[in-house]
Amino acid sequence: MRSQQILLIIGGGIAAYKSLELIRLLARDGIAVRTILTRAGEEFVTPLSLAALSRAPVHRDLFSLTDEAQMGHIELSRAADLVVVAPATADLMAKAASGEANDLATTTLLATDKPVLMAPAMNVRMWQHPATQRNLARLKADGVSFVGPEDGAMACGEFGPGRMAEPPAILEVIRSLMGAQGQLKGIKALVTAGPTHEPLDPVRYIANRSSGRQGYAIARALVAAGAQTTLISGPVNLPAVAGARLLSVETAEQMLAATREALPVDVAIFCAAVADWRAESVAEQKLKKTPGPPTLRFAANPDILATISRGPHRPRLVIGFAAETQAIVAHGKDKLARKGCDWILANDVSPSSGVMGGTHNRVHLITARGDEEWPELDKAEVATRLVARIATALQGAS
Ligand code: CTP
Repeated sequence: MRSQQILLIIGGGIAAYKSLELIRLLARDGIAVRTILTRAGEEFVTPLSLAALSRAPVHRDLFSLTDEAQMGHIELSRAADLVVVAPATADLMAKAASGEANDLATTTLLATDKPVLMAPAMNVRMWQHPATQRNLARLKADGVSFVGPEDGAMACGEFGPGRMAEPPAILEVIRSLMGAQGQLKGIKALVTAGPTHEPLDPVRYIANRSSGRQGYAIARALVAAGAQTTLISGPVNLPAVAGARLLSVETAEQMLAATREALPVDVAIFCAAVADWRAESVAEQKLKKTPGPPTLRFAANPDILATISRGPHRPRLVIGFAAETQAIVAHGKDKLARKGCDWILANDVSPSSGVMGGTHNRVHLITARGDEEWPELDKAEVATRLVARIATALQGAS
C-alpha cells in the first residue's frame, strides 16, 4: 500500500520553526512529507533543514526548470492526500482567498483538488483585522479546514489569538482529515478510557492511577483510520481527541449509561480502569473526622464490558483490557471467557512495569485462537497496531 503523503507549504512567519517539528511527527507516523517553502519562509527556516527532515527536495520556485521537469506544481499536489499550510500567514490567506497565483505556493493552492488545512500564525491585530476575518470566512466557505490559531504570548510581545497551533495539535487534525479516506471508513467505534472516580462525600473520592493515555491513543488511531468514534472518558488530564465525540463521565454508573447511549457501534474497546466498587451511600455532607477509623461500606459497580458483551446491540467486535500484576496470560484468558468479549489485551500494570500512567505498554493479544505477545511499544503504536487488526477482523467478518 502506498504510504500517505502530505504537501506542506511553509509561509514566512516566526512559527515556521514549528513546521520542522511537524515534519518530524509526521515522519514518525509513517506519513511522507513534500515541502514548498515560500520566499518569505526562507527567511525563517532553511531549505537544507527541511530537506534533511523530509528526506526529499524542497520546492521553492515556480519557474525552476529542474523542479518543473522532475515534479511540476500540479504533480506535487496530485501526489498528496492533503495540502497543509503551516504557518498560514495573513498574506498567504489573503492570496488564497482571492485566488491569486503568483508563486509556487499560491499556484499550487489554486491548482489543487485535494483537501487543504491551514494553521494560521500572525500578530493578534492582523488576525483580528476585518480583512483577515473576511478571508478566513471566504476560505472556510471554499472548504478549507483550519487548526488554531491559539491564544498566547507572541513573539512580537503581544498577547491574544495568533499563535500557530502546536505541532501535535496540527498532527491530530491531519490524522482526522486523512482518516476520511482510511481503512475504517464507515465503521462506528466506541472507546472507554481513563479511571472512574467514585465519590465518598462531596469532597472525597476513590480513584486509580489510570492516565487514560492508552484509551485516548486508541481513539486517536480509530479517528485516523476513518472510524466514527465516541470516546467515553473518566476524569483525565489529556487534551480531547480531534474528530472524536467526547462523553465525559465520572463514575462507573455514568460510564455505563454513556456507553449504552453510544450504541450501536461496530467495534467497542473497553480500556477504562473502572472502579469495581463504589461507596454504598455517598454522604451528602463532608464526612467528619471521628475518633476511631471509619467503616466504609461498598457496593459492586456494574461491569460495563460484561454488560455490553452480553446485552442487546452487542458490537460485532468487543475488546477488553486485562490489567494484571501477575499470571498475565492466564488471568487474561480467564477474563476473555468471563466477560464474553472477543479479544483481550492483557498487560502488566505492576508498578515496576511503569504502564499505569506511563507512555509505553507491553500487551498480550488474547483471542479464542490463542495468545500473541507484542513487544514493548509506545501507547500510540499499540493503538495503531490494534486498529490495523480491527480493520482486518471487520473486513474478514463482513
Ligand atoms: N471493566 C468494565 N467495567 C468494570 C470493570 C472492568 O468495563 N466494572 C473492563 C475494563 O475496562 C477492562 C476489563 O473490564 O476492559 C478488565 O478490567 P480489569 O480491571 O482488568 O478486570 P476486573 O474485571 O476489574 O477484574 P479483576 O479486578 O479481578 O482483575
